[in-house]
Order: sequence, then C-alpha cells, then structure tokens
Amino acid sequence: MCGIVGYAGQKNAQDILVDGLVRLEYRGYDSAGVAVIEDGTVSLARSVGKIAELRRQLAKGPLSGTTGIGHTRWATHGAPTWDNAHPHLDCQGKLALVHNGIIENHRLLREELVARGHIFHSETDSEVLVHLVEEQFRGDLAEAVRAAVRQAEGAFAIVAVHADVPEEIVGARLGSPLVAGVLPEAALLASDAPALLGHTRELCFLEDGDVIRLRPGSVELWGSDGKVKQVSFDTIPWDPLTAERGGYRHFMEKEIHEQPQAAADTLRDQLHSSEGLGFMEHELAELDQVVLLACGTSYHAGLVAEYLWEPLLGIPVRAEIASEFRYRCPYVGPKSLVVAISQSGETLDTLMAFREAKSRGARTVAVSNIVGSALVREADAALYTRAGLEIGVAASKTFTTQLVALLLLGLRLANARGRLSEEQLAAQLDELARAPGLISQALDTDKALQTLAQQYHGKSDCLYLARGLLYPLAMEGALKLKEISYIHAESYASGEMKHGPIALIDEKMPVVFLVSCCELYDKALGNMEEVRARRGDLIVLTDTDDPTVRKLSDNVIVLPKAPRPLVPIVYTVPLQLFAYHIARIRGTDVDQPRNLAKTVTVE
Ligand code: F6R
Repeated sequence: MCGIVGYAGQKNAQDILVDGLVRLEYRGYDSAGVAVIEDGTVSLARSVGKIAELRRQLAKGPLSGTTGIGHTRWATHGAPTWDNAHPHLDCQGKLALVHNGIIENHRLLREELVARGHIFHSETDSEVLVHLVEEQFRGDLAEAVRAAVRQAEGAFAIVAVHADVPEEIVGARLGSPLVAGVLPEAALLASDAPALLGHTRELCFLEDGDVIRLRPGSVELWGSDGKVKQVSFDTIPWDPLTAERGGYRHFMEKEIHEQPQAAADTLRDQLHSSEGLGFMEHELAELDQVVLLACGTSYHAGLVAEYLWEPLLGIPVRAEIASEFRYRCPYVGPKSLVVAISQSGETLDTLMAFREAKSRGARTVAVSNIVGSALVREADAALYTRAGLEIGVAASKTFTTQLVALLLLGLRLANARGRLSEEQLAAQLDELARAPGLISQALDTDKALQTLAQQYHGKSDCLYLARGLLYPLAMEGALKLKEISYIHAESYASGEMKHGPIALIDEKMPVVFLVSCCELYDKALGNMEEVRARRGDLIVLTDTDDPTVRKLSDNVIVLPKAPRPLVPIVYTVPLQLFAYHIARIRGTDVDQPRNLAKTVTVE
C-alpha cells in the first residue's frame, strides 16, 4: 500500500514523478504529493484525493528541479488530510522523505524525538523517519538513512532526498517492495516496476535490509550488515503499452478480456520450462501434507487447489488464510510442502505466514506474477503466472492464471509422487491446453451479463451459492461484486444454506447459483429447489442447458462444458463480468475501488 517514487536526472523531476505515481495509483489513492530540490531547498506540493488533484495543483504552481520524490497514499495512521500526505520534510526544509509500510514503534520514537526538540506536523507513523534521518545527517544521506532505519521496527520502504546532495536519491527496504533503475542520464526508484517501465526494463529489486544510493549512471548498494553488495538487475518482459487501457472503458475490463492470452502464456511458460521444482524425489514422496497460504482472491485459488489436489496427491491438502495461519501455532514441519500464492509476491500477511512455515522446516513454493518479489526470492522454488501487468485493483487475470499454474503444479506433484503415470500426465496436460479456448468461449457471455447487470444493479444484497469445486468460485464471485460495486454479497456452500442463511431468502434476494454437470449436480438441483421454494430470485450459471434448471431459474447463463479441473476457470469469467458491469452501471471507480490497494504490505 502506498506507492513511492524517486527520480534524479536531467529532466524536470515533477513530470516524471507524477507519471510514476499515476502508474502506482493502484497502490493507494487517499492523497498524493511530490517534493523537488530547487535552489538549495525542497519545494513541496501535496493534495488530498487522487493524483488528478495533485496534477491540477501542479499546473497552477509547477515545481522545477531535476531531483525529487513522490507518494500516493493508502492511509493507515492518520486520516487522508493535507498534513498527513507525504512527502514529509525536516525542520529546515532540506530533507524530504516518502514511506510505504508501518513503523510499529513510532509512538516511542515520536516521544523521544519530541523530547529532543523535534516538531511534528502530521499524525503519521512515517514522520518519525524524516526526523530520525535529519538527526543522523552529516553530509552522507545513505549513511543517515542506514542509521535511522536501524531504529525503526515494522515494515517499510522509503525514499529520501536532501538539498545538500541534490543529485542523489536514497532508498531503504524492509518488508515493503522497492525497485531501482539506472540509466546513464537518470536514476529511479519506485515501489513497483510499472512506474519505471517507461524508462527501463532492467530493474534491481531490493532485498530486506538493503539501502541504496542512486545517481544518474551510478548505483551503490549496502546489505543489512552494512556491507557493500553486488547490484544485480533482472529484465522485466512487460511492455509499457500494457499500462494503457486500449479501447476498453476500464483496466479491469481489458484485463478480463486478456485472460485467454494470459492463460496461454502461463501454460507455455510452465510447459516449456525445463526446470523441475528443485526438490529431491524422496522429499516429494515423503510429504505428509500440503498447505496453501494466501489472502483474498489468491486464497480462493488456493481453495480450488485444495479440492483438486487432495484426491490427486493422496495426502491432506489445506488452503489457509495467511493472516490467521501464523498466529495459531499451525501443524507444519519438514515433511510439509507450503505453497504461497500471491500475485504481488509482497502481501505481508502471506509473507509472514510463509516465513513462519519456513522457520519450521517446511519446503516452500511461491506462485507469483512478479519476478523478483519477496516471496519468489525466499521460496525454495518459484512458479510464475504470466498474466502481465494487472492494473485494476481487483484481481482478474492474475486469478485465472493462478488457477492454471496450480493445476499444473498439482499434476507435476502427483506425477513426482507416483500417483499419475507419464501417460496420464500427458493426457491431463492436453486437457489443460484447452484452457485459453474455453476462457474465450466463456467471454462470449459478456452481452448476456451486461443485460443481467442492467436488471440487478440496483440491488443492495446478493447471495452466491455453490457446492464442491465451485464453492471457492462462489466466494470469489461475491468478493468481486462487493469490492467493485459495493453491493453486500455473501457466499455459502449451498449445502450449508439450510443451516442458517436460508433465512435471508425472499423474492428480493438475488441468488447467483453455480452448478456444473461435473460437480454434485443432483445435490445442487435440490439446493436450487430450496431457494425457489422461498421465492429467491435465481440466477444460474451452468454448463448444461437443462430444462429443469430453466424452470427453476429467473435467469440462466450457459457456459461451455469443460473437463472438471477447468470448470473453475470457466466459471470465473461470467462472475467477473457480472461484477464488472454492475459496478460500471453504478458508476463506481472500478479500477480503484474505495479503501482498497493492490499490494497490501501491512498486517
Ligand atoms: C481481490 C484482491 C485481493 C488480493 C489479496 C492478495 O480482488 O485483489 O483480495 O487477492 O490482497 O493479494 P496478492 O495476491 O497480491 O497476495
């Protein structure tokens, strides 16, 4: 949460910083600001609300100067006000700093700093950092940042500039992402790659404990031990044009329609990768369980894997909400395989749960969309989803590609454990290759879902019901609807309905029911009858055009028939489209829904 950028070069810093912030706006959009070094001091512009507001302000009073930093905020400590907006300045107006993360010991640090005469202007935890750096600064900004962050506890990424060293930017990372790019004429830092891709695709991903000093054409890096480190750069394959909306109304709409390609890229990448998982055969044979760790939409992908993998692998498989896992003394040890699923690879809840499992000796795999992300670096093995850049805050193509990657991983594990012969594996992989085509067919329901959205956009509640393998999809459908349209939505395993939620059903309650001929069809029909008997308004997504279903339902969307493991992928598409069109009609900010951020780096 929060996006930070830094630039030192020959061009006007303000424009480059604002452009970078726009590309990071999915990380938070409560307030924004930039600070630029001008004539021996720091000039500042801050505004409440989105970056468009900051732009308006800068158009009236532009800043000049070729070194600066910027910030787009997702508020944690302190309301989204002008005072709490970043960058924060020191007392002399020479040092400016932006921060992403949380300083857990900020109260104590603040008391100590106030006692030493520092005057605070905001309620943020971040402001302690600027005062700490100010105290330590004796001409060497990197040294001052290193000494300051040693006193801070929590998770953070920071970027600082000082008017006395006007050609450099200094960054530090602990727990929150930070990425650097260096060109002969410019140096850049940012929370995420999209802010830098218009400048360079050669990026250096900082590790926890790193401090970096950048000047045009030069980079110095120190590790957590304070020693100089070798700088290494990764090449990012994304095209900067991916960050444009094309002809679509929203990034989310574009990203939903990119899913056939994203699934094909993920499949191609995995199938052509000659690298195994890097585990010894006996390690996989001796596994006593698999634990999938994730949050939000990624957790739903993990739940699908739980349903599919347990019979496939013949050992207990469970998906766990990462933020709960770490604090309940979970059963996990050297014979456990832990699969952490996170599109960003930086979600702090997932990262902390993953580290807990790792510290207990578990073997680990990361499934992520981001090359060089923390999870990927820390895992024994990494599996990439090749969704490309996803800008809409609500996950769409990263989810379907997670499903594809997890299907592949499940098959590989089953094969390695001797539960799937080479012939069976080949046959399953052939089936999996149908995923992009099936997603394309599912996208053909777009028109029908637009019509449905017209009918239901005024509702205030919605229930999502399903059984078995489709139950995690009901959860995902409900999450998508509530996060982008702000309609209250709940999901239940439809067999659970009679144990309580059925009390909610009357003629005003829309019920989205997912049913597939591959999954407990007759039981699901029974549950539909129960809804119908209470006059619930039934919208059914089905892969069988069954007259019985039509008779029971108010609306039916017929989806292509798919092999059972691909059923969740197919059903994802209409659920996304339904939520998208409802949100669009309601006029919400689809790509940047209120209160959300794309990468959640606080616990
Ligand atoms: C929902 C959504 C979130 C994320 C969750 C985990 O649309 O995007 O629920 O899925 O915050 O994020 P990652 O996958 O980056 O760990």
